[in-house]
Amino acid sequence: MVMRNPFKPTAGARPPLLVGRNDALDSFREGLEDGPGSPGLLTIFTGPRGVGKTVMLTEAEALAREQGWVVISETATKGLISRLADSIQGRLEELGDGKPSRRVTAVAAAGFGVTTQLPPTRPTGLRERATALLFRLAGHDTGLLITVDEIHAVDREDLTELAAIVQHLIREDLPIGLLMAGIPKAVADLLNEDVSTFLRRADRIDLTGVPLQDVREALARTFADTGVTIEPAQVDLAAEATGGYPFLIQLVGYHVWRRAVEDTVTDKSLAAGVDAARRRLGATVLQAALADLSPVDRSVLLKMSEDEGPSRIADIARRLGETTKYAGVYRRRLLDAGIIVDAGRGLTDFAVPHLREYLREHTDSMSQSNLP
Ligand SMILES: Nc1ncnc2c1ncn2[C@@H]1O[C@H](COP(=O)(O)OP(=O)(O)O)[C@@H](O)[C@H]1O
Ligand SMILES: [Mg+2]
Repeated sequence: MVMRNPFKPTAGARPPLLVGRNDALDSFREGLEDGPGSPGLLTIFTGPRGVGKTVMLTEAEALAREQGWVVISETATKGLISRLADSIQGRLEELGDGKPSRRVTAVAAAGFGVTTQLPPTRPTGLRERATALLFRLAGHDTGLLITVDEIHAVDREDLTELAAIVQHLIREDLPIGLLMAGIPKAVADLLNEDVSTFLRRADRIDLTGVPLQDVREALARTFADTGVTIEPAQVDLAAEATGGYPFLIQLVGYHVWRRAVEDTVTDKSLAAGVDAARRRLGATVLQAALADLSPVDRSVLLKMSEDEGPSRIADIARRLGETTKYAGVYRRRLLDAGIIVDAGRGLTDFAVPHLREYLREHTDSMSQSNLP
């Protein structure tokens, strides 16, 4: 039998095993049980590209559906509020305000035994529709979860409006959840601006890499489950090559799995797989992350890549020929962008594995202000 490659090295794709994220979902799980107003129901996931933000939203959505919640999953592009209003109208109609045939299937599918008719007047705006839907759902002990991905692309007005509506619904003690995801900088910007003091109270879960021990276990299990033999020492090497970075877990897994010779990972196929995974990381995540930045941001990163390990701000300033204060401003920007991390004791390190090597290999093209 031909097995399909179990790994999913694609943005937003649910991995075969969700590595190291149990705790991150705990407060949301509790929120589903505790209901209206519990902190886990208002959460923002932040982190660099490829760390698994979208996947966290997807997992939370699955948990919510298991509890019978209605889920509306949105990406923050233009027209967010009106799309949400439309989606909610659709759900309302499925629950009893629409065509009879649809109503029956929707109600049966949702597992609801009874249905009550909506008042004859149709709710108009998002707030009214959401209130109507929530009253219905509350009667069934479930609720409504709205997820908004990529909030860096959000229209500020839309977000302000959504926040005000959700705040109002919570005050009404209605079972609403709002989960969002975005890169740290975008989220920091949003919350600093006067968008909403309410959103500032959201739980902020900053996603970082996952423990290598969890990666080892997940890789070993996924290979075993698909009948591909891999030695413990090889699992160790593969896990180390991921640096605990979720996208790399999938890339390394995928490329090592597919190069297995007669269902066995060889040392040679392992090395080739890890190499291919690194190249794919560069061509996808690293390139995209760098393209988001300004030319000066990139030159600061290039100066960092001259170090073998974490960098000192004074060294970066010297290499740039600028003051420490100037370099500090860019350090802040890059921290907000989630591309570097504070390594303690005034040191700064790359947030994404292999970025240093990638920058070194692409110094020439990167020094020009335009990216390939
Ligand atoms: N906890 C995890 N364990 C294993 N793989 C993961 C995990 N989180 C994300 N991934 C994988 O990493 C890749 C990027 O995930 P994604 O959610 O798109 O990241 P982001 O939205 O932060 O850019 C996907 O291939 C996904 O399957
Ligand atoms: Mg994403």
